[in-house]
Amino acid sequence: MHTQPMFKDNALRDKIIIITGGGTGLGKSMARYFLQSGANVVIASRKKEVLESAAEELRAGIVNPDHPITDTNQPDTNYGQILPVVCDVRDYAQVENCLKQTVEKFGSFNTLVNNAAGNFISPTERLSHRAFDAVVDIVLKGSYYFTLAAGKYWIEKKIKGNILNILTTYSFTGSAYVVPSACGKAGVLALTRSLAVEWAKYGIRINAVAPGAFPTEGAWSRLFPEPLRKKMDPSEKIPIGRVGEHQELANLAAYLISDFAAYITGEIICIDGGEWLKGAGQFNNLEMVTPEMWDMLERMVRGTKK
Ligand code: HXC
Ligand code: NAP
Repeated sequence: MHTQPMFKDNALRDKIIIITGGGTGLGKSMARYFLQSGANVVIASRKKEVLESAAEELRAGIVNPDHPITDTNQPDTNYGQILPVVCDVRDYAQVENCLKQTVEKFGSFNTLVNNAAGNFISPTERLSHRAFDAVVDIVLKGSYYFTLAAGKYWIEKKIKGNILNILTTYSFTGSAYVVPSACGKAGVLALTRSLAVEWAKYGIRINAVAPGAFPTEGAWSRLFPEPLRKKMDPSEKIPIGRVGEHQELANLAAYLISDFAAYITGEIICIDGGEWLKGAGQFNNLEMVTPEMWDMLERMVRGTKK
């Protein structure tokens, strides 16, 4: 069931959605499901070839009998289309250009998914200041540039837009060895909660999801390189005992950007199989204690009364 699409019809048919970093990984999986749910989708990132091949794959893979995906050059179908746009989220002029191309193609837009990210593992003292900037600029600056440009457009046009930010669970716990990413994501968390209040008067909602481990080439190659993967299996830390399926994240994202979630704003929803909570509880590692050991420990602890 958890690998199945959630919506039964074109629930996102009125949505025109920009997904930053939408040409790979989780961004592409969300794009696929949003298209299947009837939305028009823009995927925006730096690499033209990656975007174009993703757009081709998405067009070819869509199975939607009511609204089949057609070539982006056919303006007669007004939803279920995909537009790839080359855009570096760190450059405000490119962000504005992405919005312009979106509006030229689809007439307007009402949904933004801030998904683009940069990350790698490293002891912090080994980083140059440029390495720190490289990650924070993509994650935080990229998110507030897109959010600002979208918000200005929506407020001026009186559009009740909505934003979904893709965080991580260490946005609120912090984490060693990915410190620039943790700083950037924590900033995006603050952006989410702050603007949820400030822009509610314009009808703009802003939420976030905090995924746990969802295998993607981008994340796994940088965070769990082969030698490390042999030593630590990410799923071992997860109470539910497995990593996430992309469709599970796409279902949650689709719900939050849909009008079914009209009363939800400023919320951060974890989808991690219980991983961060397991790491947080001081006695969680006692699950290694066998029933026989528990018998012995109980006798010892009760014995302290004497
Ligand atoms: C130390 C590094 C480094 C590394 C780059 N740098 N990689 N330092 N360790 N592994 C340094 C460089 O030496 C340089 O500093 C500076 O960072 C900029 O490097 P560039 O290669 O010029 O940067 P750029 O081309 O902008 O690429 C950005 C990037 C790259 C972040 C470094 O990895 C990238 O493009 N990533 C995009 C995709 C991605 O990261 N996806 C994973 C998201 S996963 P100097 O001083 O030498 O000039 C995620 C999930 C988290 O966020 C949770 C999972 C459970
Ligand atoms: P990914 O495939 O590497 O996605 C990152 C995307 O960001 C790429 O498409 C990349 O495209 C784009 N990007 C990077 N720098 C950019 C820039 N300057 N301008 C525009 N686009 C840029 O990794 P992923 O695992 O799918 O991650 C997607 C999101 O999920 C990220 O926010 C990540 O933090 C979050 N997340 C992932 C996991 C996981 O387990 N996978 C867990 C928690 C959170 P270009 O290189 O073409 O620019």
